[in-house]
Amino acid sequence: MNYEYEKKFLDDYMNSLKFFKPNIFKIMYRTGLLSSQIGKTLEIDDKEFFLAGFYANIGLLGFEKFIEKEFLNEKEYKQIKRHPALSSQFLESKNLYKASEYVYYHHELPDGSGYYGYDNYPVESDYIRIADTFNGAITPKSYRPPLTLKEALELSLSPYKNGLKINIDDIKKIENILIRFYNDMLQMF
Ligand SMILES: [Fe+2]
Repeated sequence: MNYEYEKKFLDDYMNSLKFFKPNIFKIMYRTGLLSSQIGKTLEIDDKEFFLAGFYANIGLLGFEKFIEKEFLNEKEYKQIKRHPALSSQFLESKNLYKASEYVYYHHELPDGSGYYGYDNYPVESDYIRIADTFNGAITPKSYRPPLTLKEALELSLSPYKNGLKINIDDIKKIENILIRFYNDMLQMF
């Protein structure tokens, strides 16, 4: 992988989204930012993990009209659950195979109750899920106010509470990053 090329590609792509698809830009950018903060703190030395965080939700581009809806019908929900697979395919087409794998599983849960029902997948996908879930929770939507910090932490971190997949020390570190991110986001409004 030519990381300098990929980084420039990502920057240009995000700049273009910022203008033309600002809602999706925000989701992708913030999930990427938060994932990379988690990665840095846990000393993940993997450039594909960094790219994966930013591209995880690119598949939402296909479902723009659903993302602000309060209630999705069964058909719509089934479609939106495809976004990890679509994002993963995009990364595979760029030969970013590890990033593609991390992204594919980014809505799975350690007990197998996630989108596709896997319980054996890379922990990097959990970090991206935590970032994506937390960011979604603290974002105001047309149909509800943002979740409180406590509610958002619970939603993001409770699946790992008994040390499932992520050890307690790392959970504490991640929690601190989420709290800092929450406070930073509050200052932006
Ligand atoms: Fe996602």
